[in-house]
Amino acid sequence: MRRHLPMLLLLPALVLLAGCDFEWGSIGYNKGYAPEQPIAFSHELHAGTYKVPCLFCHSTAERANHSAVPSLNICMNCHIVVATDKPDIQKMSEAYRANKPIAWQKVHLLPDHVKFNHKRHVERFGAPNSCHTCHGPVETMEVMYQHSNLSMGWCINCHRDPAHQAPVNCSTCHY
Ligand code: HEC
Ligand code: HEC
Ligand code: HEC
Ligand code: HEC
Ligand code: HEC
Repeated sequence: MRRHLPMLLLLPALVLLAGCDFEWGSIGYNKGYAPEQPIAFSHELHAGTYKVPCLFCHSTAERANHSAVPSLNICMNCHIVVATDKPDIQKMSEAYRANKPIAWQKVHLLPDHVKFNHKRHVERFGAPNSCHTCHGPVETMEVMYQHSNLSMGWCINCHRDPAHQAPVNCSTCHY
């Protein structure tokens, strides 16, 4: 479900944008989006069954604005020996030897005009708790999907929470 700010708050922006051609909800509302990936990677297996910590693979979530998808050398720590008879793992070793990245499909994607910073959120709420707040029960996802709708209302609702006291002025999140 989409939840929005009271429209009043948005009036100045709507007036500014009145001449432009934009659509509400054209991007950022793909809740449940689960694109097919080039390798059948399962979070349920790795983060659930084998309890590999989120930050082992997504280490940049802690120190950078962006939380990148891991590169193959992280996978090969294990898959140099684990499940080497499986076609997906053979595909990975071939790509690794050829120094080619895997073309993972992005699941979460904010519009360009939005500033988002993993580091600040992860520092504040810790891992993996913070990850769950925004990305849901990742340890149960055989296929990764978008858990939250990533709408402005979703961001603001948490920023406004008196327990969090995060900024809500427009320039916090917009360029
Ligand atoms: C063994 C490595 C590994 C571990 C551990 C791991 N991930 Fe991932 N993660 C990946 C890979 C590979 C992808 C890209 C493929 C996919 O989307 O399934 C990914 C994708 C994601 C995405 C979606 C990225 C996008 O495109 O928007 C999120 C969110 C995510 N992981 C969160 C987590 C969280 C939270 C944990 C811990 C509970 C975790 N991951 C543990 C390897 C890992
Ligand atoms: C900490 C060790 C570890 C790391 C790191 C790791 N894996 Fe795995 N992976 C496993 C184990 C264990 C299995 C289960 C093997 C089995 O069932 O025989 C597995 C299974 C898989 C499978 C299923 C193979 C099949 O067809 O049954 C895929 C695909 C896979 N991993 C991809 C990845 C990718 C991509 C990464 C890096 C983002 C990664 N793994 C990182 C340990 C790891
Ligand atoms: C406050 C909410 C929030 C928290 C907390 C959070 N994320 Fe995210 N995550 C997002 C949003 C929003 C995006 C999309 C960002 C974009 O499009 O620029 C995203 C994107 C990602 C991606 C894809 C990034 C890429 O480079 O393609 C990964 C991987 C990811 N998050 C992993 C994690 C992990 C792991 C944690 C915990 C350590 C975490 N996130 C905590 C909201 C959050
Ligand atoms: C679960 C609660 C929560 C959600 C959801 C959330 N945030 Fe935040 N955000 C915070 C908190 C708390 C802070 C303050 C962190 C600190 O400074 O300790 C923060 C800080 C920020 C900052 C840094 C502000 C600064 O002073 O540099 C930006 C930018 C930001 N959030 C953008 C977003 C965007 C964009 C979204 C939605 C896509 C979002 N946040 C969703 C809780 C949240
Ligand atoms: C905490 C982060 C955050 C704050 C603060 C914030 N926004 Fe946003 N805003 C977003 C996100 C995320 C989106 C993209 C998702 C969506 O359209 O709901 C967005 C989208 C928008 C859009 C829609 C643009 C389009 O292409 O559809 C407008 C207009 C907008 N914001 C104006 C404002 C104004 C005006 C303020 C100050 C009153 C503000 N925003 C404050 C996060 C924020």
